[in-house]
Amino acid sequence: MARKRPVIDLDTYSALDAYCIALNEYYKSLRKAGFSESHAFWILGDRESFPDWIIPGLPNRIDNIPYEDDDEDYMKKIVILSDLQVPFEDVHVTQNIARFLQKFKPDQTVTIGDEIDFQTISKWSEGTPQAYEQTLGSDRDRCVDLLWELGVTDCIRSNHTDRLYNIIMKKIPSFLSLPELRFEKFMKFDELGITFHKNPMNIAPGWIAVHGDHTPIKNLGGLSALEAARRHGKNVISGHTHRAGRSAFTEASGGRLGRVLHGVEVGNLMDFKQAGYTKGSANWQMAFAIMYVHGSNVQVDLINIEKNGTFIVQGKVYGRPR
Ligand SMILES: [Fe+2]
Ligand SMILES: [Fe+2]
Repeated sequence: MARKRPVIDLDTYSALDAYCIALNEYYKSLRKAGFSESHAFWILGDRESFPDWIIPGLPNRIDNIPYEDDDEDYMKKIVILSDLQVPFEDVHVTQNIARFLQKFKPDQTVTIGDEIDFQTISKWSEGTPQAYEQTLGSDRDRCVDLLWELGVTDCIRSNHTDRLYNIIMKKIPSFLSLPELRFEKFMKFDELGITFHKNPMNIAPGWIAVHGDHTPIKNLGGLSALEAARRHGKNVISGHTHRAGRSAFTEASGGRLGRVLHGVEVGNLMDFKQAGYTKGSANWQMAFAIMYVHGSNVQVDLINIEKNGTFIVQGKVYGRPR
């Protein structure tokens, strides 16, 4: 008698089962589309190639560094900056922000991913002249200097910064044993006093900070972060979409208010003219965020940056106009 193929038991169907089904379906579709086995495996091994809508969110592995506040009466100020994409950052704006931060003196300054673009080691540059440009060292040094000028205290992992690991893994896996090529070491985070968060960061009570590339992307600012918030069951602040915006979702039943979940996307600090891959059009906004934490009370202000590079914080204009 022919043996029955094992199938997933729907009574004990788990998140891991859903993830594996998605991988299997993706592989089958790649083969159906004409990819050879080895090409299909190669694409399957690259998480960046997955369409956002087929893969369920990653397991909710929150940072093992819990949020701690020594003095609950103190108003803590956290500045969140996103998507600098060095060497494509808007230098005028980053200098304005650096000067603002010297006056504002936040308790923490967090970059929420894509600090460096790593364009020369991207899979998109493979087989193009860009892959031969000798700028990796100077881009890294420029990014290290900028993180220092901005007084960054925490960085969060992201798709662009994963490129270092990805290319080593693909081309020369034995180099993974070299500690100096680990992203946090390569970026001199020890010397800069920066804490690197590989997992979602417990940034404030009830809030996590993530880059935003592990959950589906929506086309309007705030909606991707809200989607992530609903998946995590926590308020989420994120980057990655290069959009600035916020949204919220309230659970309520029988006239009783339940949970209110907030999602905030921080925007980006990139020089738009240098983002050639957008073909000149993209729904992006330049901005950063300030989070005020007083005990369990958290307020997030989105600070939009004008085209001339200036911005307003608490009623005061900061930055030199271009
Ligand atoms: Fe980005
Ligand atoms: Fe990103």
